[in-house]
Amino acid sequence: MSNSQGTSGEDWADARGALWLAELDSYEQMLEPLGIALLDRAALQNGQHIADIGCGGGRTSRLAAHLVAPSGSVHGIDIAPMLMDEATRRAEAAGIGNVRFSTGDAASFVPEGAPFDRLISRLGVMFFADPEAAFTHLRTLLVEGGRADFMVWASPQDNVWMSGARAIVAEHIELPTADPMAPGPFRLADPDATGSLLHKAGFSQIDIAAWHGAIPVGGSGSDAAKAAEFSLRAFSFANVLEGAEPGLEETIRAKVTAFFQQFETPEGMAVPAKAWLVRAAA
Ligand SMILES: C[S@@+](CC[C@H](N)C(=O)[O-])C[C@H]1O[C@@H](n2cnc3c(N)ncnc32)[C@H](O)[C@@H]1O
Repeated sequence: MSNSQGTSGEDWADARGALWLAELDSYEQMLEPLGIALLDRAALQNGQHIADIGCGGGRTSRLAAHLVAPSGSVHGIDIAPMLMDEATRRAEAAGIGNVRFSTGDAASFVPEGAPFDRLISRLGVMFFADPEAAFTHLRTLLVEGGRADFMVWASPQDNVWMSGARAIVAEHIELPTADPMAPGPFRLADPDATGSLLHKAGFSQIDIAAWHGAIPVGGSGSDAAKAAEFSLRAFSFANVLEGAEPGLEETIRAKVTAFFQQFETPEGMAVPAKAWLVRAAA
């Protein structure tokens, strides 16, 4: 079920994936600072073979492909077929030959080329129905001594880019209580719980570091009005606005715009965000 409570892999293969595709450029621009931090920390090297888990439109896969070229390769995996089509199209258009994409549920799928030297993921590993089983499977996709680098969101309170707009919507429309244990963007927000989960899944040398940054909600060069439009159109709670009383959507949009104004800069939006950089060895 795709609502403000959670987003599962099934949602991603269907409506949520279609929505991500429709907003792909804005999302990829918004998440660029996180991708840079993830790849800095992963320190990929020429010749390595990488799997990018829940790779979406493939931005991090393409960046990783440059880092491991010419002899290394990247295999992007995602449950959403429409995103794999678009990721393939974008890689071909960019003339990147050492990246490929496959549709599959990363909780159980064994991609061609496994086992890999490295796994990476920017925000693609929080949606598993059974995280322990999924991470146990992901562990088997690594060579002995291989390494995983995942980035996951910290708590909603530390991510006002999402929780600020959601709170304004909730003033007017009843939203389901967020379940922190349901698959969704904040499912791995507790670093202690994530560490235990990875340990149970067979990973070792687990190291989790905080990333603090500012993200351009709505895409590069966005302003408060565009950020509000984007959040009400593209975030997981957006569907609750469908069928709202006449006038209510405008009221909410005005309030969300006012909220985002505090984060406007001459270069565009810079909304505080926090995520965890999770590193673990196989
Ligand atoms: C928040 S998006 C991030 C996409 C991409 N990593 C990025 O940073 O642009 C989460 C991605 O995880 C994918 N995903 C969710 N559950 C999955 C699963 N069980 N197996 C593979 N991919 C999954 C979604 O389809 C979506 O593309």
